[in-house]
Amino acid sequence: MKILSIETSCDETAVAIIECNGGFENPSFKILGNSLLSQIEIHKEYGGVFPSLAKREHAKNLVPLLENTLKQSSLYLEARPPSKISDEKIKEIEKILEKESGLFEKLKELLLKIEIPNVDTVAVTYGPGLEPALWVGLNFAKALSIAWNKPLTPVNHMEGHIFSVLMREKKEFLISNPPAERAGFQFPMISLLISGGHTELVLIKDWLDYEIIGQTRDDAVGEAFDKVARMLGLPYPGGPEISKLAEETRNKNYENKWSLPRPMISTDGFDFSFSGLKTSVLYKIKKLPEITDEIKKEIAREFEDAVVDVLISKTKKALQKYNAKTLIIGGGVVANKQIRQEFTKLADKQNIKLMLPENSLSTDNAVMIGIAGYFRFISNKKTRNPLELRAEGNLRL
Ligand code: KG4
Ligand code: ZN
Repeated sequence: MKILSIETSCDETAVAIIECNGGFENPSFKILGNSLLSQIEIHKEYGGVFPSLAKREHAKNLVPLLENTLKQSSLYLEARPPSKISDEKIKEIEKILEKESGLFEKLKELLLKIEIPNVDTVAVTYGPGLEPALWVGLNFAKALSIAWNKPLTPVNHMEGHIFSVLMREKKEFLISNPPAERAGFQFPMISLLISGGHTELVLIKDWLDYEIIGQTRDDAVGEAFDKVARMLGLPYPGGPEISKLAEETRNKNYENKWSLPRPMISTDGFDFSFSGLKTSVLYKIKKLPEITDEIKKEIAREFEDAVVDVLISKTKKALQKYNAKTLIIGGGVVANKQIRQEFTKLADKQNIKLMLPENSLSTDNAVMIGIAGYFRFISNKKTRNPLELRAEGNLRL
C-alpha cells in the first residue's frame, strides 16, 4: 500500500509518499517521494523556533511540497478536464482551512488540476509539538482526506522517531527483508528518544505497546544543547554547532579544565535532568573575562561528554533491568556523532542490537511519519472519528 504522510510539528515542513508491504511480520518500505523544507534560516534570528512564524511558513510550503512529492512518486497526473470535487466538499475544505492563511486557495487550485492520486491513506503528525504548527498539517491532511475520500491516519511524532530506524534511504528496501525477527529485533526493546522537546526512555513491549519508564524533569537534551550553544554565542540550532566544536578537541591532547556535573547519573530510576548542567555552564562562563574560541571548544567537549555519560548510564541500566536486547535511538539529537559512537561501543560490549536512523532521517521528516502511519493503519485500532481529531501539543506515547 501507499501512504502519503505529512509532518509540521516544529520547524520542518515535510511531505512523503512511501510504499509499504509485509505487515508486522515482514515490513518493508520504499520511499517514492520525499520533500522537506527547513525553516532554520528564518528562525535563526530569533534564536529558536517562533511558533506563529512556523505556522505561516508551513501554510506557505505545504502545497508546493505536496506537488513535488506527487511528481517524484509519478502520482501527479494532470486531470483533463479538471477534477470534479463537489461544491459541498469544497465548502467543507474551505471551512477546515479558514485559519491557515492562503492555504485553501492554493490547495483548491491543485486539487482541480490533478487526478486523485493512488494512495491508501493520509498519515499526519497530530502531536506532540508546537500546537499552531501541528494544526496546519493536521487541517491540511483533513482537507486531503475529504477531497480524495481517503482515510486519515493520525501519528504520534515520537512514534515516528522510533520507526525512523527502520528505513535505509539509499537502498530501495529496508532492513526487514529479511524479516524483523531474523534482522535481530527482539521484544522487549528499549528506546531512547532525544530531541529538542523530549528526552525519554521507553520500554517497547510489543509493536505499538509502549511504557515511558523515564523522562526529563526539566530541559530536553536538544534544548540543553541549544541553550548552551546560545551562551557560547553560537547560532540556532546549537546541537550541530556544539558537536562540531567538541569534535575539534577529540583528536588533540585535551586537558579537561571544566568538570561539569553529570546530573542524576547515579539516582535510582530512569529520569533525567539537564537544566543544572546548563546552569553550571552559565556560572562558569560568567566568571570569565573573555570566552575565547579555545574555551568554547573545551566547554563544548565537556558538555557533550557529560550528556553522553548520563544517557549511556541510564540506558544501560534500563537495558539490564528489562533484559532488553534491542536498543532503538531516535530524535534529532541522535545526529550527534559522539552519541552514535559511544552507543555503538556500548552495544558491541553488551551484545545489544542497536538501531539508529540514518543521519538524514534523524531530524524531523515525513518518511518516519509514513512508517508509523503504516503500522497504525494496519493495526486497525480506530478509536474516534479522525476528522474530529485535534492537535495535541503534549501528546504522549
Ligand atoms: O527531532 P528534532 O529534529 O526536532 C524535535 O522534534 O525537537 O530535534 C531537533 C534537536 C535540536 O535541539 C538540535 O539542536 C538537535 O536536535 N540536534 C543535535 C544535533 N543535530 C540536531 N544535537 C546534538 N548534536 C547534533 N549533531
Ligand atoms: Zn522530532
